[in-house]
Amino acid sequence: MSHRDTLLNPIQIGTHTAQNRFFIQAMECNDEDASGNPSADTTERYCNLAKGEAGLISLEAISITRESRSRDNQLVIREANREPLRDFVKKVKQANPKSLFIFQLTHSGELSNPNFSRRVCVKPLPGFGGDILTKDEVDKIMDEFVLAAKISHDVGADGIDMKLCHGYFGSQMLRPYNDRKWKYGGSWKNRSRFAFELYERILNAVNDKNFLIGSKVSAWEGFPGGFGTDGPDSPIMDLTEPLALIKGLEERGAQFFIQSGGSPSITVSITQCDKHVPYFAYLHQYWAKEFRRVLKPETVVIGSNFSLFRNGKNHLCAVEPEKSSLLAYGAQCIERGVMDMVGLGRQSFADPFLPLKLRENKESEIKYCTVCDNCLELLIRQTPVGCCTFNKKYTDILVNERKINGPLKVAHT
Ligand SMILES: Cc1cc2nc3c(=O)[nH]c(=O)nc-3n(C[C@H](O)[C@H](O)[C@H](O)COP(=O)(O)O)c2cc1C
Repeated sequence: MSHRDTLLNPIQIGTHTAQNRFFIQAMECNDEDASGNPSADTTERYCNLAKGEAGLISLEAISITRESRSRDNQLVIREANREPLRDFVKKVKQANPKSLFIFQLTHSGELSNPNFSRRVCVKPLPGFGGDILTKDEVDKIMDEFVLAAKISHDVGADGIDMKLCHGYFGSQMLRPYNDRKWKYGGSWKNRSRFAFELYERILNAVNDKNFLIGSKVSAWEGFPGGFGTDGPDSPIMDLTEPLALIKGLEERGAQFFIQSGGSPSITVSITQCDKHVPYFAYLHQYWAKEFRRVLKPETVVIGSNFSLFRNGKNHLCAVEPEKSSLLAYGAQCIERGVMDMVGLGRQSFADPFLPLKLRENKESEIKYCTVCDNCLELLIRQTPVGCCTFNKKYTDILVNERKINGPLKVAHT
């Protein structure tokens, strides 16, 4: 099979079939309206991704309450957002009914922005903090997640990604750092309770075998006590708990996992490997391989951090360009059984039509992400986000922002 055939080969996810192996990562764009509903820009973005024929598309992080947002213009999923979301999904499905569409449900916890949200935490982390959550407050957060899952189902999403990555609330709970002695902290049994119970509750509440449920998981957050370390004060990588997590979620009905790593507000280069540290991308392939190793064959594993491979013109040493392109590595990972699908994050900003161009044999027309990370800078600046290399609208926003507010004061989200 050629690399092209491998990547265009359909795959079963639960009762659904994705038309190819391309997954569009959740990518926050902070361009929703004041009520947290999709704007015209949001709708156009997802319609383009659907027209671009991605097999599975994830909606960017959508907040389960208005108080748990990390971005001012972030999507919100409450009762009041139900009808606008229904209309939005309908438009994306009309653009291409074959692309599967899932919602990434999130609560920002200690990353909730205090300028417009309530910062809360399971145990104050140096530099973050927030009100320490009680058991009852966590139970309430669980209720909000269940409601958000029901709304996602009702408005026509094909499933949800219960976000357990990147330092947001789902990962804060799981960390060894959460060693507070309470219902949701201390032992692994207590730290995994939130994720496990939430899955059980969501599956009962939605009660539809066609509704997909899975999670994006940071295999290793990369700081002492982060998820995937061997203790509350240790940075040493230990995949025992991440693998126990995905196995436990699979037993409870998860049909897919998106492998990730890092916690961008602390270890951004692990989550979004950049051209200065491109070799971290190889770590992601290892984590995906470990996920794949312990899961059942029918559970779909999606890999991350492919954007920087580009068309082989990257900053990697000791490898021939034609063997180190996004398409070559993506196909190789699938052919070697390391993962089942290839996640595209920043690349999906550069060219939402990559899968379509590949299918139409127009590979030479694919626009590759330059890994300039100006999209990330826009996100940190809390402006609308898009590709500053190929879309002048976002270049202008960035130039204007830099002129008015000067250089970035923080180097993370
Ligand atoms: C602007 C921007 C927004 C992002 N928003 C999200 C998000 O909403 N949810 C999420 O899980 N990851 C988010 N990420 C991380 C990406 O989904 C992805 O994991 C990461 O960029 C690595 O993939 P890539 O190399 O293909 O870009 C974001 C990254 C960027 C640069």
